Amino acid sequence: MSNDRTALVTGGNRGIGLAICKGLADRGLNVVLGARNEDKGKGAAASIRGRGGSVRVEQLDVIETASIAACKERLDADDVTVDVLVNNAGIYPEADALETTIDQLDEVWTVNTRGPWLLVKEFMPGMIDRSYGRVVNVSSGSGSFGEGLDTNHAAYSASKAALNALTMTLDDAIPSGVDVKVNSMCPGWVHTRMGGESAPRTPEEGADTGLWLATLPADGPSGGFFRDRERIPW
Ligand SMILES: NC(=O)c1ccc[n+]([C@@H]2O[C@H](COP(=O)([O-])OP(=O)(O)OC[C@H]3O[C@@H](n4cnc5c(N)ncnc54)[C@H](OP(=O)(O)O)[C@@H]3O)[C@@H](O)[C@H]2O)c1
Repeated sequence: MSNDRTALVTGGNRGIGLAICKGLADRGLNVVLGARNEDKGKGAAASIRGRGGSVRVEQLDVIETASIAACKERLDADDVTVDVLVNNAGIYPEADALETTIDQLDEVWTVNTRGPWLLVKEFMPGMIDRSYGRVVNVSSGSGSFGEGLDTNHAAYSASKAALNALTMTLDDAIPSGVDVKVNSMCPGWVHTRMGGESAPRTPEEGADTGLWLATLPADGPSGGFFRDRERIPW
């Protein structure tokens, strides 16, 4: 199956991000695998090439403004346009609201919320100009007010609630009549380094809703929050 679309996935070297990269490559998209450690990214990319997928590795540390800008410049220099952006990279510090240190607070906000925000500022204007784009913000039920937030990971919960707010406000910023969509998703509880060994879902199962949102048809939803391809409360 071939598809001329190109997808950039942050934190693509392991876990749910790697499963999303594999799934997109299997669907024929050209994958730009973002990894803060380029060698780890190259190792992950080899497993995608091994199944016949098209993949390019980009050093991308979403905590660093300069790293995001440099990635965009390299892609522009090679005439690579990003049609699909999956903001997947995330960290999960454990602490309640009063225990959370200033360093934890700064880091989790910078990785989980500010990084995705800078990335959409780099890549969404081009999507709007070309009249096609899909943005998937990998959020969490921990950031859902409706599902009760996760008070043991207070800064994480707040960062994902803020990411959801970004999704809603971005959707409103898309000009009418343009086929650009932005959605949040929760992968469920997934067996990764973040989710831990007790988690019931495989990374592939966790990736499913993201893959669906990344490849939505023109009449698909925008500005929503999904798990298992169903809407969940903000
Ligand atoms: N697992 C779950 O149960 C679960 C549930 C709800 C939501 N989520 C969300 O799903 C997403 C993926 O989680 P996961 O379970 O796959 O986690 P994971 O296995 O811990 O992987 C996290 C990924 O993010 C990358 N990353 C961390 N900081 C980064 C930075 N500054 N710049 C670029 N990449 C960075 C990591 O890179 P390194 O390898 O270099 O560290 C790694 O590739 C996260 O946004 C998470 O919040 C997960």
